[in-house]
Parts: sequence; structure tokens; C-alpha cells
Amino acid sequence: MLFYAHFHHPSLSRDDLILTGKKAQRAIKKVQRDLRTKFENGEPFFSKDAIRDVRDQLRQSTETGHKITVRGLNNMPIDFILATGDICPRIVDDSSDDDDNEDDENSENGDVKHILTNPCIRYRTLQALLDYPKPLIDMHSAYCNMQIAHHSVLKNKFTGKILDGSDAIPPSKKFAKRFFEKNLRTWKDGQQCQSLLSILKAKQDYFKNGGVSNIISFGSGTFTANVRSDWKTHSTFQHASLLTLRDFLREVLGDTNDTKILAQDPAYIQRDKDILTEQGITILEDPDGFLELDDRSIVFSCAPTGTNHADCDGSVSAIDAC
Ligand SMILES: C[S@@+](CC[C@H](N)C(=O)[O-])C[C@H]1O[C@@H](n2cnc3c(N)ncnc32)[C@H](O)[C@@H]1O
Repeated sequence: MLFYAHFHHPSLSRDDLILTGKKAQRAIKKVQRDLRTKFENGEPFFSKDAIRDVRDQLRQSTETGHKITVRGLNNMPIDFILATGDICPRIVDDSSDDDDNEDDENSENGDVKHILTNPCIRYRTLQALLDYPKPLIDMHSAYCNMQIAHHSVLKNKFTGKILDGSDAIPPSKKFAKRFFEKNLRTWKDGQQCQSLLSILKAKQDYFKNGGVSNIISFGSGTFTANVRSDWKTHSTFQHASLLTLRDFLREVLGDTNDTKILAQDPAYIQRDKDILTEQGITILEDPDGFLELDDRSIVFSCAPTGTNHADCDGSVSAIDAC
């Protein structure tokens, strides 16, 4: 679950910014108009400089009180104050219209508490900004397409026991590897792998002419952590497709092939990383994958969420595998 870091606009008091009634409606329309114009004028929505800047600030410190300044699309700064270790303030609920929603299934239960852990970037797509929740909190955050949030762990307030399963021991590496290899074989023998290969073969001249710099997978999921077993199966098949791409390039380009296969998913645990690295896939931490994109990248992303289908500048060929 995600929680907001505390945020405010540095030069204005928060109370000055809260808009209500007709004023708010007019302000929302103005923001929506502005955002659409920017999009239609082809302004990059996520610039690499902006992503790099936020990444560097987050990597300086993740301690509570550390300030991360993000410039919104209107170029105004918003300060996010990290709250690592705090008990939850406001839940980010992407499935609801109301960002102030605190009525998650556990907040009713007085025995449990969410402890904020590592901070992360919460990418807001154009659509997410256009659907900015009402009431409008302030004009500046309405333009902020990279918000800072925290992951959390759910604990019993009195015993300190972790209740969300995040401390469960994952399956052994040997077991996870066997599961991955079994599904890799099933994928290779299947019709979908053949279909992918025939699409790639039809485009082989493009690859031979230096068409591809790297293949970057976003959000292909964990297949070793304690998540639902069908999610793990999806994840193995998605990584298997990535390896098919890699093998195809090896076959077509031979020794000249230096195409890197990169993968970014904050859900990876160490076991995923170990197994994927052994397969020749380089694991990147968020947001480094976005910074590796260029106009010769292939992006591989299945069932992406709003957080991982950022349209970064400098990209991209996409494989739509939904
Ligand atoms: C809806 S799930 C899809 C998982 C998998 N592709 C599937 O089809 O089952 C979205 C995935 O995106 C990942 N994700 C979220 N934020 C991300 C980010 N910034 N970069 C890469 N992956 C991200 C999540 O951890 C999750 O694995």
C-alpha cells in the first residue's frame, strides 16, 4: 500500500491554496486545458532531467524529515517531506476518486498500524492528472506528475507483529529456479512464443540495421515473492518472452549483438534478481530504467499500471503484450 509523504508548496501557506465551489471548478478546467495544450504541443511529459533530479535527491537520504523538491509541469516546486518510520498519515488510493480516503479495510481496526517504509516515486500519467481528485487540493500539486509516496508495512500496534505477510520467507532459490525453468520450457513449446518469433522474423532487417539499442522490461512482476500464484506464473512467462527476444537477437545479429536486456520492477526481491541476472538480464532500480530509454529502445510491459507506463522523452518502440 502507498502513502503520501507530506507535501506543500514552499512559498505559499497550504490554507491559501485550498479551492472550493465554483472557484475550484474553474481552476480544474484551467489545469486540464493547460495539460492538454502541453500534450498537444509535444512537450515531454516525464523529462529525463526531472526524473534524474528526483532520483538523486531520493538516493541522498530516505530518512524522515529529508526534503525532496519536485518541479511540476508548470515548473513550480513542490516540497515533499519524507516520513520514513512514521505511522500512516494519508493513504494513496489509486482506485478511488477521493485521495483522502482513509477507510481502507484495516483502518477501522484499532489494533493495527501502517508503518511507512521506503519512499518511492508515484508517477502520475496525463490521464491521472486530468482526473485530479476533487476537491482540488491546490493548483501546484495538480501539475505534479511525480509525487513522493511511501510503501508501508502493516503491524499489530501492541505486539509489533507484521500482519501483511511481508516477513514471510520466500520459496528457496532452488524451488523458484525450477518453477521458472519449467514455465520457460512451456513458453518455448507454446503457440504464443512461435507467434512472437514470426513477428520478430518479419522485422529482422530492422534489427540487423542497428534498430535496437536495448530492450527494457517494466513491471514484469515477481515470481519468487509471496504473491498470488497466478501472478507468479504471469511473471515467469513475461520474463520468458524477454529471453525469447534476447535469443532471437543473438541468432540474427551473432557476434555483433550487444543489445542489453534490462528489467525494472520495484516488486523484485533478491531471489528474482539472482535468477534473472543468471539469465543475462540486468536489473535496474526505479527509475533507472526510464533513464536508459532512447529512441532505439524496445519497451516490454504487460498489464502496466499508471505507475509504470510513463511516456518518457527519448523513447520508444513498444511491445504491447496485454
Ligand atoms: C498490474 S501489475 C502487472 C504485473 C505483471 N506484468 C502481470 O501481468 O501480472 C503492475 C506491475 O508494475 C510494477 N511497477 C509498479 N511501479 C513500477 C515502476 N515504477 N517501474 C516498474 N514496474 C513498476 C508492480 O510492481 C507490478 O509488478
